[in-house]
Amino acid sequence: ARIVVLVSGSGTNLQALLDVIAEEGAAEYGAEIVAVGADRAGIVGLERAERAGLPTFVCRVKDHPDRAAWDAALTEATAAYAPDLVVSAGFMKILGKEFLARFGGRTINTHPALLPSFPGAHGVRDALAYGAKVTGCTVHFVDDGVDTGPIIAQGVVEVREEDDEPALHERIKEVERSLLVEVVGRLARHGYRIEGRKVRIS
Ligand code: GRF
Repeated sequence: ARIVVLVSGSGTNLQALLDVIAEEGAAEYGAEIVAVGADRAGIVGLERAERAGLPTFVCRVKDHPDRAAWDAALTEATAAYAPDLVVSAGFMKILGKEFLARFGGRTINTHPALLPSFPGAHGVRDALAYGAKVTGCTVHFVDDGVDTGPIIAQGVVEVREEDDEPALHERIKEVERSLLVEVVGRLARHGYRIEGRKVRIS
């Protein structure tokens, strides 16, 4: 499977995918990353892609007259690499209508909380503030809501008494990286169907 990864930050989830492909080989793993896209320039995630010799593209909201034009540009930039699967890995923008019309049903996202609890941009902080005793991460298909699409897999992380947001997020990210690597490989190797809210990996 051909994969485009979208990032906005440090790109450690991207790196986990790059590492497994380098170790196992694309054929064995079932997927290759064909390009990495971002909504901002100068981020470590893009450096990781360049270091791996991958093509990158940057699509910034502020370079477009409005959100719809940005959505169209991101869709076009992604489509140029003809991906079978798009992985939003710490991509901090809501994907637009046009993007989902083109790539819905084959775009997955990783979120640092156990959905449907704590959706949105501050999943870790919100779980901590709520006083949750367990939280974790969710890999799910993207639909037109905010972190509402069909769930593929989740990983659980215990909240510790002494946790602050960075410490808890770091432990979640450890689980998140291996979960994402596992899910992408399974989707790529086996194929899947989405039936309502159920994801069936064949
Ligand atoms: C992940 O925890 C992701 O779920 C969240 O931001 C983090 C991205 O980390 N939205 P990285 O850029 O992959 O290191």
